[in-house]
Amino acid sequence: MGARAQFERSVRLRIVLLVASTMIPALAAPQSVGSPSVPAPAARPWLESARPADERAKLALAAMTLDEKISLLHGYWAVSTQRFGASSVKLPAEAIPAAGYVPGVPRLGIPALFETDASLGVANPMDSRPGDVATALPAGLALAATFDPRLAYEAGVMLGDEARSKGFNVLLGGGMDLTRDPRNGRNFEYLGEDPLLAGTMAGEEVRGTQDQHVISTVKHFALNANETNRTTLDARIDPAAMRESDLLAFNLALQRGRPGAVMCAYNEINGEYACGNDWLLNQVLKQDWGYRGWVMSDWGAVHATNYLLAGLDQESGEQLDQQVWFDAPLKTAVERGGVPRGRIDDAVRRILRSMFAVGVVDYPPVKTPIDYPRHAALALQIAHQGIVLLKNEAGVLPLASSVRRIAVIGGHVNLGVLSGGGSSQVIPSNGTALRIPLGGTGPMAALRFELFDPSAPVTAIQAAVPHARVEFDSGAYPAEAAALASHADVAIVFVTQHDMEGFDVPDMQLPFGQNGLIAAVAAANPHTIVVLETGNPVAMPWLDKVAAVLAAWYPGQEGGQAIADVLFGAVNPSGHLPMSFPRTDADVVRPRLPNLGAEAGAAVSVDYSEGAEVGYRWYHAHNVTPLFPFGYGLSYTSFRYDQLRVSGGRTLKVSFEVHNTGMRAGAAVPQVYLTSAAGRPVLRLLGFQRVQLQPGGMRSVTITADPRLLGSFDEAHRRWIVPAGMYEVHIARSAGELLGGGTVRLSGYTAAPARVD
Ligand code: BGC
Repeated sequence: MGARAQFERSVRLRIVLLVASTMIPALAAPQSVGSPSVPAPAARPWLESARPADERAKLALAAMTLDEKISLLHGYWAVSTQRFGASSVKLPAEAIPAAGYVPGVPRLGIPALFETDASLGVANPMDSRPGDVATALPAGLALAATFDPRLAYEAGVMLGDEARSKGFNVLLGGGMDLTRDPRNGRNFEYLGEDPLLAGTMAGEEVRGTQDQHVISTVKHFALNANETNRTTLDARIDPAAMRESDLLAFNLALQRGRPGAVMCAYNEINGEYACGNDWLLNQVLKQDWGYRGWVMSDWGAVHATNYLLAGLDQESGEQLDQQVWFDAPLKTAVERGGVPRGRIDDAVRRILRSMFAVGVVDYPPVKTPIDYPRHAALALQIAHQGIVLLKNEAGVLPLASSVRRIAVIGGHVNLGVLSGGGSSQVIPSNGTALRIPLGGTGPMAALRFELFDPSAPVTAIQAAVPHARVEFDSGAYPAEAAALASHADVAIVFVTQHDMEGFDVPDMQLPFGQNGLIAAVAAANPHTIVVLETGNPVAMPWLDKVAAVLAAWYPGQEGGQAIADVLFGAVNPSGHLPMSFPRTDADVVRPRLPNLGAEAGAAVSVDYSEGAEVGYRWYHAHNVTPLFPFGYGLSYTSFRYDQLRVSGGRTLKVSFEVHNTGMRAGAAVPQVYLTSAAGRPVLRLLGFQRVQLQPGGMRSVTITADPRLLGSFDEAHRRWIVPAGMYEVHIARSAGELLGGGTVRLSGYTAAPARVD
């Protein structure tokens, strides 16, 4: 079956589960190699928790039959297919309807893997667990915008806790592909465009989850940077540049979080599918980095049995592949000598090792009630810290409590706030406010819907100013909205842009005529505030006409409250952009969305010619000034940075003081950028810190640069090189606003890729 046919098959399969009336054509149940009955061993030393994980994995492996080993190397897409009467695949009774299930080996006390998506909360795909809800966190971009690794850890703890309380022991979270295109439909799930920021935040999230004895997965390894035709897309890039950007981000996350699993991506990289890519999986991940966990495939991303030889350890969501490769065909390959038994053992050992190391064997998940109010407070905190104030002319914000008449317009904000779509979609614990099927043509049309989380901004705004007259207008007719705005003291226009997995948005324009709506309202009221609920940057042709702009991303199930808190100053905004906001598509590295209009399933490619110069680095190198730069965000207070000291030697060390010079408590996010490396002009984030300060308060900050951010990767010799010479750094408010700097000498250095074992 060709790639196109395969794509269509997987699309059909997903649709069929959504549309219960349709039947899956000729979908065979996976052929199992079966498990001949072998007596249980008298002793099970691998279950002794005092032994190291490696030893336990080795002991368990030695007790397994070939069939048992192979059974751990492939797993089901565990969405409740039976419920829809649409699949002939009967899942074992213990399987929890969710993204994935891999049966265990009961004879040896090895539990099954119960896998759930949970980038932004524990997902419940297609309501497979009827009525099951979860805490819906804000978008990954909101978390990244906090620049607060401690909060990323807390998010990881919460996700792990909810997953475990629902019976899961593997979390398919940790999405972290770098933003290379501001129209990528999945950016909202990820952590922005900078390797240090994304790697740090992902690593902390993983750590939080695994501290709950739930295995965490980082994904999608790697370069799944556009969704259009993602399963047939060849991502082309210079390998050294990839090491300095996306792979560096993953390496940092693996070092920090030590996730039990890595999920390889759908796309090809330089002509080889990511899940069958020897360079990526064997050479980089396992050999150079020494990764000891396992590589699972994305769902429907395996195209051959020999992917095992290229470094893939486990086939996930097997019904979505053309056939189940890692079951009977794998056994045949082993028996015929095409796949060495040692490689089977290596793959199984990796899975077992992660299970023992993270504690899913010693601390199995227990279904327990979830403390939703406590988790809602965390969702609120992330939204508070992640909302970015982009513009605030003449201090129009925060709004005074004395305001008498407010026009609130657009965005269905009488009901709730928008969320992003796809496998990360969460059914919020406080209910679903609105579900709008978008439809369209093509096989994926049925999957397109907008889901609104129920924290309604109108309600929260009215609650903040109970004596004010708060009036809502849907925004359907700009003239009607403008008429309402003309009578108000202030007009707040909410605009939305829905992003979802499987699609890129074609351009940066707000959909449904919302630019016209803003223009009409702004013409009627000089105190117009725009709140963006988007998963990406959007063009703002009306920017000069409005008084204030907030980027609220998809703010999660407490989003309406969070937005109101920022509007009225109960919370001082402190979010900073984790991705550049370009002015228009024309300024983007690829002005036209790659492969716009390509037939579904057609083979396509994207040449990521910017290499390691992703986001702000590319804008800087090409003298393009973005509308709002990476790292940018305003506050209701002001900060001063001084006493800058820079020292050199083996690496750069920068220290400085942060002062709150305003009248309110607030958080600053000072950033340190490398601006020149051994005579070469560059712009690279070397460090950041979120600093909470009372008015008049001061804190000293010290940042030591990871040397890999200073140098370049030599692919031929597989090593980092930091040449000796002069290096210049600046402290900054954002990538677009550098403050004081210093130049020091570095002694020069070469180093092997960092190990993550
Ligand atoms: C997504 C993964 C997800 C998997 C299981 C895939 O379509 O790309 O991120 O974990 O489905 O739902």
